[in-house]
Amino acid sequence: MAIPAHYIQELIQRNNIVDAISGHVHLKRNGRIYKGLCPFHSERTPSFTVYPDTQSYYCFGCGAGGDVINFTKEINGLTYIETVKMLAQQSGMPLPDEDDKLSRLKSRIYEMNRIAARYFHANLNSENGKTARAYLRKRQLSDKTIVSFGLGYAGDDWRGLCNHLKSKGYTEEEMTSAYLVARSSKGNVYDIFRNRVMFPIIDLRGNVIAFGGRLMEGEGPKYLNSGDTPVFKKSNGLFALNIAKKTGKESFILAEGYMDVISLHQAGFNNAIATLGTALTSQQAKLIADYAKNVIIAYDSDGAGQKATRRAMDMFSKENVSVQVLQMEGAKDPDEYIKRFGKEKFEMLINKANSALDFELIKLRQQYDIRDTQGRIDYLTKACDILATIPSPVLQDVYCSRLANETGADKESIKLELENSKNKAYKSNNYKKNKEILKEGIAGGIKVDYRQQGNTLPKVFAQQQIIASLIRDNDIFELVDSQLTENDFTDLNMKNAYIQYKKLKQEGQDVSYALLCHYLDDETRKILAKINAGNADIIITQNDLQMHIDNLKSAPMGQNEIKQTSVEDLQKRIESLKEKRK
Ligand code: UTP
Ligand code: MN
Repeated sequence: MAIPAHYIQELIQRNNIVDAISGHVHLKRNGRIYKGLCPFHSERTPSFTVYPDTQSYYCFGCGAGGDVINFTKEINGLTYIETVKMLAQQSGMPLPDEDDKLSRLKSRIYEMNRIAARYFHANLNSENGKTARAYLRKRQLSDKTIVSFGLGYAGDDWRGLCNHLKSKGYTEEEMTSAYLVARSSKGNVYDIFRNRVMFPIIDLRGNVIAFGGRLMEGEGPKYLNSGDTPVFKKSNGLFALNIAKKTGKESFILAEGYMDVISLHQAGFNNAIATLGTALTSQQAKLIADYAKNVIIAYDSDGAGQKATRRAMDMFSKENVSVQVLQMEGAKDPDEYIKRFGKEKFEMLINKANSALDFELIKLRQQYDIRDTQGRIDYLTKACDILATIPSPVLQDVYCSRLANETGADKESIKLELENSKNKAYKSNNYKKNKEILKEGIAGGIKVDYRQQGNTLPKVFAQQQIIASLIRDNDIFELVDSQLTENDFTDLNMKNAYIQYKKLKQEGQDVSYALLCHYLDDETRKILAKINAGNADIIITQNDLQMHIDNLKSAPMGQNEIKQTSVEDLQKRIESLKEKRK
C-alpha cells in the first residue's frame, strides 16, 4: 500500500473507533469497553464489543473484528482505498494523494522534534548543561527520571538548535512551522527555547509533539510551551499520558504542572498526568476517560487550583469518570508535598482523598458561620441540595448524621429537609445521571489470568500473545527482539505480523493495532482482534511475556501442532479454560 504510515497514524488518531462505530451501532459503556448488537450478524443480546484501549472491535458471536478502517470498510461495503478517503474526508484530512505537502510537513516536524529532543538531552549532559544539571539536582530528580522523561537543556545561544537542524537539512520555514524557531522583525531566525530546562511532550504513539521549557532564573515567563503546530494542539495535549496509559491503572492522578508529574512518577505514582498550562478542556477529559475510570485531582492548594478543581470535576462528570479530590495541607503542590512529607504520606493522602461530595460539602461549609442560626439553616439547606443529587439512600443517611453532629441540628429535621431537596432535584437530570454512573460502576467481565494456563497452551498461542503484547506496549520490543527472530514465529500469520511490526518500529513508528492492520491480511487482523478482546481485562506482566518467549525458544514446534491447531480450536480451548475458572 502506497499510503505512508504517518498518514495512517493521523487517520486513526482522528477517527476514534468508538465514535465511528457509534454512528452505526447503539453502544453502551461498560467500564472500559463498549457493547452493542453486532451489525454483521443478527443477535438479540449484545456480543459486539469495542475496546478503546486497543482501538479495536470484536464480536464474540460471529468473530468479526478489526480496527476503525476495517469497520468502516465492512459496514459501508467499500474498498480499502475508498474507506481511507471517506474517513479522511469526514475528519477534515486532505486525501492521501492530494495533499502530500501537508503530510510531508508533518513528518518533517515529527523528525525535527525528535532531533530537537535528542539535541536538548545531549546538551544537558555536555559542559554547557552544568547549571541545568545542578538545577535538576536541586529539584531532586534522579538520573533515571531525567532519562525516562527525556529531559534536556536549551542553551543560552540564539541559534544553537537552528544551526543543528540546518545541518540536518531542514529549512527555516520548516523550523518555524515546528515552533522551534521564530523569525525576528529583521527576518533572522532564532531559537524559541533558550536557557531553559526542556520537557518533551510525547503523544500516545511515541511521537515528540511539543516542548515545555522552564526558566531556571532571571526574567521571563517561568514556563514556555510550544504553540499549536500541524502536529500539536495545546488544548488536546496531556503530559505523561503516554506513560500513565501503559500502567493499565484504572485511576489517574491529575496534577497542574510538569514538575508535579515528574516528582510523582519518581515517587512511584506513574499514573500522574497534567495539562500543559491550560485549564482542562472537554477534549482532554474525553481522552482521559478512554483510559481511566477514576481521576484523583491533585491541583495546587491555592485559590486558583481549587477553582480549577471544581471546573475539572464538572468536565469529568460529563464523561462519567468518577473524581476524588486531594486536599494537601502544608504544601503548595504535589512536588512540594512529596519533598516535605515523603511519598508514604502522599500515598495516605491518596487513600483518604475526598470524594467529590466531601469536597463540595467542605467548600460549602467554609461559606457559612454555623454558630449563627441563619448561617446554620442556610448551610443545611444547601447541603441537603447537594445530598439530594446522590443516588444512595444509605450514603444520604450517613451524611445526615454527620450534618447533625456538625451543626447540632436534629437529624430527623435534616432528613425532612433532604426530602424537600430530593423533590426539587428529582426533576433535574443530575439525579438520573448519577444513578446511571452508579449502575455502570458495577460492570465487570471475566478476568482470566492466563499465567495459569500458559504452559499448557500451544506455541501458536504464545506467538499471538507476544504480538498482542507488542501492540499494547511498544517498549517491550527490544526485550522481544533481543531474544527472538522472525523465524521463531512458526505461525505464518504471526510471523508476518512480527515482520511488519519490526519494519514499522525501525521506521520510528509507534505501532498500534490499527496501524499494524494496514499491513496485515484479513485473517491476521481478525485473529489479533480476538486476542485483544480476550486480553482486555488482563495485565500482561514481563514474567508472562518471558514465559511466552521461553515457550517459543524451547523445542521447536512439531509440524503436526501447526496443522492441527486451527484458530477456532485454540479459541475453544481458551474459552473452556475461562469457563472452568468461572
Ligand atoms: P506552577 O507555577 O504551579 O509551576 O505552574 P509548577 O508546576 O509548580 O512548577 P515549578 O515547581 O515552579 O517548577 C503550573 C503549570 O502551569 C504552566 C506549566 O505547565 C506549569 O507546569 N505554566 C506556569 C505555564 O505554562 N507558564 C508559566 O509561566 C507558568
Ligand atoms: Mn511546583
